[in-house]
Amino acid sequence: MSKEVILTGLRSNAEFHLGNYLGGILPMVEMQKKHAGQYQLNMFIPDLHSFTTPIDHENLYQQSLDNLMIFVASGIDLSNKDTFIYRQSYIPAHSELAWILSCFTGFGEASRMTEFKDKSKNIGTDRVTVGLFNYPILMAADILLYGAHYIPVGDDQRQHIELARDLALRFNNKFGEVFVVPHEWSKQLEFMGIDKGVRVRSLRNPEKKMSKSIEDPAGTIMLSDKPESAVSKVLSATTDSVGVINFDWDKQPGVTNLLQILSLLTKTTQKDTNSQWVGKSSYGELKSATAKAVEEFLIESHARLAGVSESDLLSKLTSDESELNTVASQMLSKVQIAIGLRPKN
Ligand code: TRP
Repeated sequence: MSKEVILTGLRSNAEFHLGNYLGGILPMVEMQKKHAGQYQLNMFIPDLHSFTTPIDHENLYQQSLDNLMIFVASGIDLSNKDTFIYRQSYIPAHSELAWILSCFTGFGEASRMTEFKDKSKNIGTDRVTVGLFNYPILMAADILLYGAHYIPVGDDQRQHIELARDLALRFNNKFGEVFVVPHEWSKQLEFMGIDKGVRVRSLRNPEKKMSKSIEDPAGTIMLSDKPESAVSKVLSATTDSVGVINFDWDKQPGVTNLLQILSLLTKTTQKDTNSQWVGKSSYGELKSATAKAVEEFLIESHARLAGVSESDLLSKLTSDESELNTVASQMLSKVQIAIGLRPKN
């Protein structure tokens, strides 16, 4: 396997929402099309990451499969030989490498992760787990096990990618060339063809990113939403009192969010979308256009999902998990040898 690896993981503790789709799934689908034959693509469900915050464990297993079916329905081609799909917990090397890397991560370094700080604030310190704190280290293991060069994720994950890079560099400095060092963030963005990671905002609280529907039902469009209910969420999106449409995340996050959603769903560049809307005063028209794009997208994606076969998916998973177990174990052995857990020869 000598092709460079593009890798991404999408959390499975909840159903996907539009933000997951536009920021995570769609870029993968486009990447698979664009780079077919050129790169290896690893797409996985980080199911061990799913309970860093409390979840309903009853649904975890099925939720992972359902989410993978959404990948497929969104256009990921399972017959592509360079594409691998798998569940993190089916490849034990992830957990083991995470432990090893945690012993090379500074406590202060890990404490600086803003996602941890934000999430722990919401949860309350008494309920925050060590798992949530360690989460970026497991993520680094996910990346480094397969020698991934590119990790297309939203910009909320930037610090975690940088941690993976720092750990790889630190490890290589100390032990020789063990890991592939993932490209730096600016190169990631260049590769994704955008100047900033996509971060879809809540329709209700546009200063925040779109999150799970339990936290923010009116602000979140779930991929399973009925098209008409999604339409009404878009139509009642929070905007502002400026009265003129501008693309400005700081001053007008609500309309800017709509412009972004519209651009991504209609496959029109942000620049072209903006030149159509910026300067106009009718927020209502922008909402209707966005609502229509969302409605069409949902209708089409529900129809596609109905056509995905769970048993085809399971057989692809089983075969990829077995193949990648070998790859991951080889990398783990390399690490074990490097740090003295196994003999050099
Ligand atoms: N932390 C990512 C998220 O919340 C999910 C994830 C876990 C991931 N491991 C990864 C993404 C490795 C890319 C690579 O979205």
